[in-house]
Amino acid sequence: MVSKLTPAAFRGAFRPVRIASRAPCRAFTASPRVASDALQVHRDSPENNANIPFKFTEQNNKLIDEILKRYPPQYKKAAVMPILDLGQRQHGFTSLGVMNEVARLLEMPPMRVYEVATFYTMYNRSPVGKWHLQACTTTPCQLGGCGSDAIMKAIEGHLGIKPGHTTKDGLFTFSEVECLGACVNAPMVQINDDFYEDLTPESTVKLLKALQASAKDVDTTSGKGALTGEDKNVKSGKDVGVGSGRINTKDGVPVPAPGPMSGRKTCENIKGLTNLTSEPWSTEVFKKEFA
Ligand code: FES
Repeated sequence: MVSKLTPAAFRGAFRPVRIASRAPCRAFTASPRVASDALQVHRDSPENNANIPFKFTEQNNKLIDEILKRYPPQYKKAAVMPILDLGQRQHGFTSLGVMNEVARLLEMPPMRVYEVATFYTMYNRSPVGKWHLQACTTTPCQLGGCGSDAIMKAIEGHLGIKPGHTTKDGLFTFSEVECLGACVNAPMVQINDDFYEDLTPESTVKLLKALQASAKDVDTTSGKGALTGEDKNVKSGKDVGVGSGRINTKDGVPVPAPGPMSGRKTCENIKGLTNLTSEPWSTEVFKKEFA
């Protein structure tokens, strides 16, 4: 019995020494908490409070009738997202007035509409600039091309604002967002409804400068003076120094057309076709060696 206990007692005596000499446990570390760019809690402000009523225009009311036809009358609340979007497009952002009007139209408790509008980042709960830059920083964009960190830096450096802020002239609002579904053309930025892809810091700055130059001529809310398709006389942005993609013009002001800024048309291999280059064969067309 004693012979059995002795080694145990011996080991027990040294236990505190063993623990003290053991390498310290790896501390648990977590990445720093990053708050969302957008404030999703309502705070009354002069431009966004319950006393500012909102009404849809006659034209948008016709559109709403069309949207509602897609749903059975007892489920018309299912139309909350497209109608909120319509309200945002008309008003410029999803104000309390817009949400209350949508709730009234769809006969929903206003809280149900607030829940939708505050869940999706596409609904801007506060006014945004003429150009809303949404830079994707999810993993494929962080790793693709020059990486989204370089794009974020280029935007911050050129506009002098951080994500979540609007420039003093009201032209740009800058937001950091998660994957926008164009990973194959990373890194990319969404500007209003358009995707600009395959960006580099240089092409990003050129794009911003082109937008600034065109801003005085372009009214994106009314469509008046909107960009007018590709200029047939200019083959690519390279010709006018705004990147290597296609361009749009407005009164002679060149602005890169949405899409890849690298010269790619979509997401094809930039080096051209590297496989499937030979004559396709099938059961009717035999490979030479079997002919
Ligand atoms: S990760 Fe940026 S678009 Fe998907």
